Amino acid sequence: MASWFRKKSTLEALSVDDEESLSNSASSRIINPHLPVLTVRDVHRSFQVGGGQIDVLKGIEMELRPLQLVMLKGRSGSGKTTLLNLIGGLDLPTNGEIVFQEHAFHHSSDDERTLVRRKEIGFIFQSYALMPLLSAWENVELALRMAGTPRSQWKERVHHCLDLVGLGKRMHHRPYELSGGEQQRVAIAKAIAHRPSLILADEPTAELDSQMGAQIMSVFRNIIATEQVTICMTTHDPTILEDADHVYEMVDGRFVT
Ligand SMILES: Nc1ncnc2c1ncn2[C@@H]1O[C@H](COP(=O)(O)OP(=O)(O)O)[C@@H](O)[C@H]1O
Ligand SMILES: [Mg+2]
Repeated sequence: MASWFRKKSTLEALSVDDEESLSNSASSRIINPHLPVLTVRDVHRSFQVGGGQIDVLKGIEMELRPLQLVMLKGRSGSGKTTLLNLIGGLDLPTNGEIVFQEHAFHHSSDDERTLVRRKEIGFIFQSYALMPLLSAWENVELALRMAGTPRSQWKERVHHCLDLVGLGKRMHHRPYELSGGEQQRVAIAKAIAHRPSLILADEPTAELDSQMGAQIMSVFRNIIATEQVTICMTTHDPTILEDADHVYEMVDGRFVT
């Protein structure tokens, strides 16, 4: 199976802790724009509730291509978060296939998915999910610590990520000293710190006004270009949808576009 990243295997790279693997910066990725980052085939997800079963996803087909900004649109309850959890390897489909790069998530154990997720995926949430007592700097540093990045690289990487999201001058502020838009930008810096190839964002602009929402979208464009990531996000904001390379519209567990 083709690999478009210089690092041949995610699991192999995970066990290597040397300077070389870690200086393997995003800009050194070799990306084949014709091969998908992620493929979802005929995915169903049902939940047992009480005595019955609810079918939340009913045959989803989708593809994420490298360096795209893909949006999932749909009403509350249509199944967007359920799908994002499957794409991120947090949950397994009841039926169907989810292939992330060369990893078949639907055939992987929890541990295997966790390893891939830690290395390759970054998550962003509507409510920012920052540690309230830590500064912006410390929040991003914590992400690197959790990803196992050597301490010698933290300073440069934290600087780089906070600069990238336009918070170079606010790096020692704590979340409560920052606006909602700034907090979300810290969360983006945190999500990209360990150099993932895919960013998943669940309603990242829902709590922001339209101007701050637009800033988040321009940060997303910037990190796609400089960090070579692919982004899949959910939203129902029509002005934000204009920024997408591709929009999938979900209605009651199915795509209608
Ligand atoms: N773990 C679960 N158990 C039971 N029902 C669930 C579970 N997760 C999601 N659902 C149901 O699936 C539907 C879709 O939820 P969700 O994916 O959160 O939608 P959206 O993100 O589009 O608002 C909702 O009716 C929700 O109650
Ligand atoms: Mg949701």
